[in-house]
Parts: sequence; structure tokens; C-alpha cells
Amino acid sequence: MPPAEAGPRRQEGPRGVANPTEVSARSVEVEGRERRPGGPGALVVKAAVLHEYRQPLVIEEVEVLPPRAGEVLVRFVASGVCHSDLTRIQGERPSSLPIILGHEGAGIVEEVGPGVTTVKPGDHVVLSWIYGCGQCEYCTVGRPNLCRVGIKMLTGGTFPDGSTRFRIGDQPVHHMVVSSFGEMGVVPEACAIPVPAEVPLERAVVVGCGVMTGVGAVMNTARVHVGATVAVVGAGGVGLNVVQGAVLAGARQIIAVDILDAKLEMARRFGATHGINGRRENVVEAVRDLTGGLGVDYAFEVLGRPETIRQAYDMVKPGGMAVVVGISPADSEVALPAMQIPFQEKMLVGSFYGGARPRVDIPRLIDLYRTGRLKLDELVTRTYRPEQINQALHDLEAGELARGVVVY
Ligand SMILES: NC(=O)c1ccc[n+]([C@@H]2O[C@H](COP(=O)([O-])OP(=O)(O)OC[C@H]3O[C@@H](n4cnc5c(N)ncnc54)[C@H](O)[C@@H]3O)[C@@H](O)[C@H]2O)c1
Ligand SMILES: [Zn+2]
Ligand SMILES: [Zn+2]
Repeated sequence: MPPAEAGPRRQEGPRGVANPTEVSARSVEVEGRERRPGGPGALVVKAAVLHEYRQPLVIEEVEVLPPRAGEVLVRFVASGVCHSDLTRIQGERPSSLPIILGHEGAGIVEEVGPGVTTVKPGDHVVLSWIYGCGQCEYCTVGRPNLCRVGIKMLTGGTFPDGSTRFRIGDQPVHHMVVSSFGEMGVVPEACAIPVPAEVPLERAVVVGCGVMTGVGAVMNTARVHVGATVAVVGAGGVGLNVVQGAVLAGARQIIAVDILDAKLEMARRFGATHGINGRRENVVEAVRDLTGGLGVDYAFEVLGRPETIRQAYDMVKPGGMAVVVGISPADSEVALPAMQIPFQEKMLVGSFYGGARPRVDIPRLIDLYRTGRLKLDELVTRTYRPEQINQALHDLEAGELARGVVVY
């Protein structure tokens, strides 16, 4: 039998911690962040908060409440900056405000709530921005990225019971599930995916959204076949990962489309065989010219606009597949040539979080990086200090980044 204070008491303690000594040890470790007397167990951290659309994020003190049953407190080491954060800031995709954005995060488990079994304090984790409840129809058939509970969390900005673990004074602050634009956050256990400690988290972080979404769209959604022809419209942080996913899948022709030559150049470094500048060329004609007049087997739209979704549909050959990854503004619609739909048997499909099954796919992608087949280092154009978050968002909007990463 182990001593009474070890083992069995670990998961039954106030916050699933082993013993009081361990609590105080960790409190020292999170130096400077006192547990507030007014809010039992709350930690005070710095976070970048969105209070109002189209306004800069405000860096301020936020209270993080302790993890409840099945939840994990993570100390973020790095956070990527994705266009989906910008879309939220611009109000094109409505959010509950105030909110802490950031959904491409990696960090170290600081504390676990009761009943958590798959991670422990000290574990390195990459965060999934979709929570799979494990019980609904979608989770049961292996499509946790469509979990209705997870989607509700993502759109509503709260935990499934409607509560949040952040607050400023008496005001609740919402989550973007991961909320990595702050020093710490609480996530459901299912979102904290353990990764080997030797993989640098400032690199692994990009797997959390950009790589999972892009490579996953190729592998899980489209299932691109060896020898296929592929076009990628939008060669940003996610699109470059569609390019490298297509390389992994053995595509023979990979045509990148962007309006910035620098992005086309990056796409070539990730394995694109051709580049088309959408400002200078008619992209649909150019893609057809490169593919013997027919079009590509697969086209991916990776920037989120109705016009480019239409381009992707048009550049696919009959029987091919257009995959929409980009998130268009909430009220936008796409027009399609109705008669062609049956005649040409094209498929138009959406891809959400690359069809991720996070517990399987995130470790696989990390392994592909470790064995030299997936580029992560090259994806990180620039790193930022936490107080430079608005600069990182500005640089993303200006098209200067493959990925920008905030390092805490
Ligand atoms: N489906 C999902 O699960 C999912 C996940 C993450 C991101 N996204 C979405 O994917 C999209 C891309 O995100 P990102 O972080 O890579 O953005 P990004 O800003 O890094 O990349 C967008 C790219 O599109 C290019 N571009 C702009 N207008 C263009 C045009 N008319 N034709 C061709 N290229 C053009 C830009 O130059 C840039 O290189 C966004 O809409 C984002 O919200 C979707
Ligand atoms: Zn993203
Ligand atoms: Zn579910």
C-alpha cells in the first residue's frame, strides 16, 4: 500500500492535486500570481482581451478559476495567431464579448481537476480547439470535430454548462475553447493532447490549428490520392499546410494561388510545383491551362470568400472535389452554376478542423515533424512577446506571416 497521502488521494483533492505540499510548491512556481482571497483558488494572470469588435486587444489582469472535474489548467508556452482570430476581432464571426481569443496553443499542464486521468501536472500538451464530448452521435462515429457540444462551446464561448473560467472583477470573460492569448487557461481534458517533452512547444504549437486544419483537409477530408493534381487558393498559415499535406499524400502537381508573390515563393518551399498570382492572372483559366484544359482533381479554398470558393469549384475537373476550408463572413452566400452540378458530378465539401480526431491526429503530425517529413520550423515566420499581440495580428493581416507565434 502506498502512503495515505499519495496515489488514491491525488484525484480526490480539492483540485485533483496530490497533497498540500504540492499545492504550495506550484503556487511558488507560478510566482507573482497570487491566489486571490476573494475568489477561492483563482489565479491572476495577464491576458489579451477583446472587449469590442475592430478594437485592439487589451492586455490586462484576468482571474483564472481553478479547473473543475474533467478540466485542466494549462500554462501556455506559445500561441499561434490565425486568421480565425482576426475574423473574430473584425466581428465577421460573432463572439460573446468580452473574450480571450487564441486557439492555436501549446503549454504545460499546471493543475488538473478531479477525475482527470490522461494528463498530469508537468505534461506538455498541444491544445485542440474542438472539444469532443465522447458520447454524441458524431463522437461515437469518429467525427469529434463535429461534436455538437464542442461546437456550442466554440460558438458560445463557455463551458457546456454555460459557465466560464475567466473573469475580470465580477464580469465573466468568454473562451475561444483554448484562449491562448493569455498566460494560462482552463480547458476540458479532451482538448489537452500530450506530446513528447523533447518537441519544442514554440514549434509544436502550430499543429494546434494551422497544421491540423491544412494537412487534415488533405488527409482526412479529401483523402487526396497518390498522383493527384491539387490547387490551393490562399497560401497563408493554413494553405501552406494544405500544400505540405498534398506533398505527403503524393500529389504530382500542386498549384498554389495567392495575391502575394512572397506567399507563392513560400508555397514553393513547402512543395508547390506551380504558383499563380490571382492579381495578375485569371486563376481558373491558368489552372486549366496547367492541367491539360480539364482542371484539378482537388481544389482547396483556404481564405474564406464566396468569390474564391466559386473559383475553387470552377477549377476542379468533372468528378473532382472542391474543399472549402476558409471561413467566409457569417452572412455571405456562394452562387454555383446549377446545371453543371449534376452534369459534372463535382463534389463541394467543407472541412472543419481538418476532420480532426485530435487524440490520434495531433500525435501523428508531431511524429511526422520529428521524423523530418513535416515542416514546422519553416512555418513560424516571426515570434512575438505577449505584449506585441496586436502587432502580430497586424502583421498577419498585412500578409507578412506564414505563422506568427507569441511566446510567453
Ligand atoms: N475550416 C477550419 O477549420 C479553419 C481553421 C483555421 C482557419 N480557417 C480559415 O482559413 C482561412 C485561412 O486562414 P490563415 O490563418 O491561413 O490566413 P492567412 O491570412 O495566413 O492566409 C490567407 C492567404 O490568402 C491570401 N489571399 C487573400 N486574398 C486572396 C485572393 N483573392 N486570392 C488568393 N489568395 C488570397 C493572402 O495573401 C494570404 O496568403 C481563414 O478564413 C481562416 O478563418 C479555417
Ligand atoms: Zn485557426
Ligand atoms: Zn460529442
